[in-house]
Amino acid sequence: MKILIIHGPNLNMLGRREQSVYGKKTLDEINALLNDKAHALNVEAVIFQSNHEGALIDFVQEQADSAHGIVINPGALTHYGYSLRDALVDSKLPVIEVHLSNIYRREEWRARSVIAPIAEGQISGLGWGGYVTALQVLVAGLQADASRPAL
Ligand code: DQA
Repeated sequence: MKILIIHGPNLNMLGRREQSVYGKKTLDEINALLNDKAHALNVEAVIFQSNHEGALIDFVQEQADSAHGIVINPGALTHYGYSLRDALVDSKLPVIEVHLSNIYRREEWRARSVIAPIAEGQISGLGWGGYVTALQVLVAGLQADASRPAL
């Protein structure tokens, strides 16, 4: 089973970027934890980060046919990335949206996600643990042969 793990703009700066909001771990450290979790779950994680919406869309289009689900932190594209949203819909894959910070207790504009309505669910505010939890829940649902993540 292949799971796409996608990080959007500025997430390559984790560890240096607003540590009090996003935590101390670098993206490489989070990805290592995700690879460990994928290994424990016996699934393949294909991890991708870009600062460019088009590159994220290209990745989704290239990978969708051979993948089973998507965990994505769209970064600020969460709030206005309609092209990315359309690509996720076209992938026909179950999507779980993750945010390190709690987007509902920050600036008002962050509380609106254009991705959430097409996602199975969203984890917001649990730091790097949100990614690991999303991967676990997504895989559990897919292994149970459900079309949706286990709840
Ligand atoms: C974020 C929240 C977004 O509002 C922000 O633009 C990010 C990171 C998060 O993980 O909390 O880049 O998606």
